[in-house]
Amino acid sequence: MKLNPEKIQAYCSDPVTIRVYDSIDSTNNEAKRRTDSGVCLYATTHQTAGRGRRGHSFYSPKDTGLYMTLSLPLSAPTASVQKITCAAAVAVCEAVDTLSEIRPMIKWVNDIYVDGKKAAGILTELVSDISNHPRAVIVGIGMNLCTKRFPDEFAANAGNLGEIEINALCGTITAKLIDYYRRLDNNSFLEKYKKRSFCIGRTVRYTQNDLPHIAIAVNIDADGGLVVEENGARTTLNSGEISIIPIE
Ligand code: BTN
Repeated sequence: MKLNPEKIQAYCSDPVTIRVYDSIDSTNNEAKRRTDSGVCLYATTHQTAGRGRRGHSFYSPKDTGLYMTLSLPLSAPTASVQKITCAAAVAVCEAVDTLSEIRPMIKWVNDIYVDGKKAAGILTELVSDISNHPRAVIVGIGMNLCTKRFPDEFAANAGNLGEIEINALCGTITAKLIDYYRRLDNNSFLEKYKKRSFCIGRTVRYTQNDLPHIAIAVNIDADGGLVVEENGARTTLNSGEISIIPIE
């Protein structure tokens, strides 16, 4: 498993600055440290301090996964991090479809599931310039490919995508995400996201304003929010975590 910038670039019609690392703390951290302009990709097969959403760590052992961050110049100051995360989830699923027999699903908002277990996650962050103006959006994607053993805290819910050639995977995701990002305003990713949803039609549990809720997930709205229904009343979640209640 060796990342090769020329091989990755071959999958992308746009020029991308590609930096690969044998090992690094976190590709999202590296994207923040660098001041590269244009579209940049930071990729590795080992992170020593991989980060997930909500302050969680992302287990990134050596040579069994792909960890990548795509840095995209901010097209509009209003670009929604949630929408970009949804577009990235679709890009990952479609790349996996193209390169393997696996057909992943998406658990709102950023988790990629295979056989009911989390095989990949996405962490999207805004990067600001020295005057505190957002200048780029960075999309970090961590994928378990053939990781078999996980630390106890992840073990019950962790899966993998299987053996996929990493340069093809990295390049195909990059090309698809650039394309969806360019067309973010017309929501070309949205129907595809809904079709892949692991949540719609299921009973979910979440907490809002310190209150626990149990509701049915009914839709994904145009901003990537999760529409849920509880006792006939609908509300849209735009942050936080849900868990899916298993069917008995
Ligand atoms: C999550 O599951 O909460 C999101 C996980 C995101 C992990 C990726 S791996 C590449 C990039 N670098 C990081 O430190 N995090 C993201």
